[in-house]
Amino acid sequence: MDESLARWLRLREEADWAARSAALTYAIAAAVPNTGTLHVLDLATGTGSNLRFLAERLPSPQRWLLLDRSPDLLALVRARTEEWAAARQYEVRSSATGFSIRAERLSCQVETRRMDLNLLDEATPFEGRHLVTASALLDLVSEGWVRSLAAHCRAVGAAALFTLTYDGRSSCDPAEPEDDLVRGLMNAHQHRDKGLGGPAAGPDAMAAAERAFEDVGYVIRTDASDWVIGPDARDFQGELIDGWAQAATEQQPDAAAIIADWRTRRLAHVDAGRSRIVVGHHDLAAWPRRD
Ligand SMILES: C[S@@+](CC[C@H](N)C(=O)[O-])C[C@H]1O[C@@H](n2cnc3c(N)ncnc32)[C@H](O)[C@@H]1O
Repeated sequence: MDESLARWLRLREEADWAARSAALTYAIAAAVPNTGTLHVLDLATGTGSNLRFLAERLPSPQRWLLLDRSPDLLALVRARTEEWAAARQYEVRSSATGFSIRAERLSCQVETRRMDLNLLDEATPFEGRHLVTASALLDLVSEGWVRSLAAHCRAVGAAALFTLTYDGRSSCDPAEPEDDLVRGLMNAHQHRDKGLGGPAAGPDAMAAAERAFEDVGYVIRTDASDWVIGPDARDFQGELIDGWAQAATEQQPDAAAIIADWRTRRLAHVDAGRSRIVVGHHDLAAWPRRD
């Protein structure tokens, strides 16, 4: 069971939604067809955060296919979407291929499917899609993988929206002397192979994605989507700091004691309610050039 990842995705969902670029959400909603059913493909969907954010903001009716390699995370999509729907008085019902979400201005069919996205050469999920999207994915993939992704989007003429791609920036307040060291190690760790096409682009992912979509003739828009995490988000900050410490230690094991000491001081700031953390992300929207 991907319990720790499921917990992490729940903790970050609010910060993700607050951070996402409103301008690019509007731009992509204007770029996709607004007649007929909108077919959307969400890659590495996790527990479906990207569906819940976008469903209300895209033209309706919609039909979504959500892909992830984790059956445990996919199994949570419906329950988390039901919680979200209940807060809005939307109706969620079983359907032949999954479930549907219905509201006055929203009609959305949702299907989940287990798939290892390392096998991106499998073109089938892209067929007939008007929009291909993902959140918090691109920094995990290689440049070759993102080139293959761009080619698949181009082949079906789909618009693309990739949000919350880590760009290598972070700042902590109050600062600690080892913040730069830990960030540097973490950024190096981000380039390790995450099983998506080889060594990951990590903090260089946005540049790689821009090149890949430009090369297939797409119009590109980018915008910052930084997390700005306030002192009240103690659990979220704690998980983030733990993740950074773990990655930094894996990257430089002989710095383990320094990193452990840094972690203790950072967590003390969190516990005292005085910690603020900003993490740099970017969103990218792209659609086929029509000139
Ligand atoms: C950081 S999470 C983002 C989840 C979701 N998009 C969100 O924003 O909440 C990355 C996701 O990528 C999925 N993933 C990682 N490698 C994968 C692969 N090779 N094939 C399919 N999914 C993969 C994980 O299971 C996880 O759900």
